[in-house]
Amino acid sequence: MSEHHTTAIFSLKGISFGYGQNDSMRPVLHDVDFSLHPGQRIGLYGPNGSGKTTLFRCITGLARPQSGQVLFHGLPLNSENDFYALRCKVGFVLQHAEDQLFFPTVLEDVAFGPLNLGLAADEARERAVATLRDLGLAGFEDRLTHRLSGGEKKLVSLAAVMAMQPEALLLDEPTNGLDNDARQRIIDILSSLDTARITISHDWDFLAQTSTQYLTIAHNHLHSCAPSFAHAHMHAHPLGNEPHEH
Ligand SMILES: Nc1ncnc2c1ncn2[C@@H]1O[C@H](COP(=O)(O)OP(=O)(O)O)[C@@H](O)[C@H]1O
Ligand SMILES: [Mg+2]
Repeated sequence: MSEHHTTAIFSLKGISFGYGQNDSMRPVLHDVDFSLHPGQRIGLYGPNGSGKTTLFRCITGLARPQSGQVLFHGLPLNSENDFYALRCKVGFVLQHAEDQLFFPTVLEDVAFGPLNLGLAADEARERAVATLRDLGLAGFEDRLTHRLSGGEKKLVSLAAVMAMQPEALLLDEPTNGLDNDARQRIIDILSSLDTARITISHDWDFLAQTSTQYLTIAHNHLHSCAPSFAHAHMHAHPLGNEPHEH
């Protein structure tokens, strides 16, 4: 994207990916070019099965494209170690919090990332406590993860990623299955967060409140899409069904 003068955090160049092998290959993404720059807040909308999660898996090296390249700060990634370096800085908040949280307590889950980055135990603990506080979860440290509500689990999985102080976030349907209060908390947090990100959602109202640019995947291609949508509406007129103009 030529309007950007900074180096992209990450880029995809000519990425094509399908599941399966050879003759039984089912293409999902075809020739996808994309860059995420600091400060960008992208909403990714698209029907089920269109390849949104697969796009995140390609960015993070969990799926390896048949062609094309992923770049991190302008450098092409090849080995698992290269992708590991990206995953330390590009936080992937999975659709199901249960897939992100492994430990008995909240503190252990949130301190795990910082520990993995090499912080000493007490520093990792401090980082986790501060991150929980920032997300409105002060006092959750000793709570049992499996006893949390769906909304609380989602916030803890966001905390687990934020504790790594990522440069970018990949959020996969962060409000799916949440009640209104939990959804609103996610909106408030994301609205105040200037971390570059791509947010996948079917919830247009949520995307519009938390994103400034919009993409969709259709027929294996990534397209930009307009934030305004034609919609049918009904209203009453004194003339009833008489033909009329607006
Ligand atoms: N691990 C997998 N193995 C085979 N096919 C998969 C796998 N994951 C997803 N798919 C298929 O790839 C397509 C895109 O899936 P996905 O990226 O999960 O879509 P979305 O996140 O947009 O709902 C779908 O047809 C899905 O069934
Ligand atoms: Mg998905």
